Amino acid sequence: MNALPDLVRAADLIAARGSRLGRPLHILAETTSTNDEAKRAARLGAPHGSTWVAESQTAGRGRQGRRWISARGESLLFSVLFRHSGPLARMPLVSLAAGLAIAEAVERASPTASVRVKWPNDVVIADAQGLQLAKIAGILAETSTTGSSVDAIVVGVGINVLTRCFPDELAELATSVTLVADRVPDRAEILADALAGLDRDVPVVLAKGLGPLHDRLARKDALAGRLVRSDASYGIARGIDAEGRLVVEREGRREAWSSGEVHLVSSSPAERREGGSL
Ligand code: BTN
Repeated sequence: MNALPDLVRAADLIAARGSRLGRPLHILAETTSTNDEAKRAARLGAPHGSTWVAESQTAGRGRQGRRWISARGESLLFSVLFRHSGPLARMPLVSLAAGLAIAEAVERASPTASVRVKWPNDVVIADAQGLQLAKIAGILAETSTTGSSVDAIVVGVGINVLTRCFPDELAELATSVTLVADRVPDRAEILADALAGLDRDVPVVLAKGLGPLHDRLARKDALAGRLVRSDASYGIARGIDAEGRLVVEREGRREAWSSGEVHLVSSSPAERREGGSL
């Protein structure tokens, strides 16, 4: 095992929670990307629940082709293989269910922080007014497919745990568990909680859709009631619909945004009532 000492307990904690994920647990000193590990192993027949954790990634990736950079040993970087066959349409729900599970695991490690899910796949810490959001975790769900059907799903998760200093360009936008918690974070506990949560929530949305998780998700929605903007337009976020789309009120009408980057906008109350096009 190549883990820093704090991760050595992870396998026992996972077993104690009775999770079907994290078995087997592969802990690597370095890899290109834990999602690559999981996808490669999926092709070779690795079982449901197999999990890869890395102390460092040389080609960690995020959504929309972005790089995911983290200093060695400061984060939790892991990917979980779900054996599942079904339609691609459920994939946005997997990211949301994973976001919710990760948010709850982060909240357990930092109970006084305001941990929220930011559609479509970020976990953030909100300030007291809910107007400033700092990213604490991101999710990258990828699939192996045949035609329009999914054979296996890889859920990749990066959680900032021990980072105290972020690069200048991220300093205002990112935070970590150690910066928001009132105790020293324990990566093995967070990993075990995260896997137990993913094991509970991801199969539910795959089998039944977002319905059973909807109330919990709504309580953690970082964007609800806020003025948000995409590249093309802006409006008031009004929750997440059954297909996992962001409902946005714009010029008195509701529309559903299905993908893309969304940002909070600080605005006057008049702008907040209106919404509109950019
Ligand atoms: C995002 O916020 O855009 C998603 C970031 C996902 C990062 C994690 S780190 C572990 C796994 N391996 C990767 O290369 N990416 C995911």
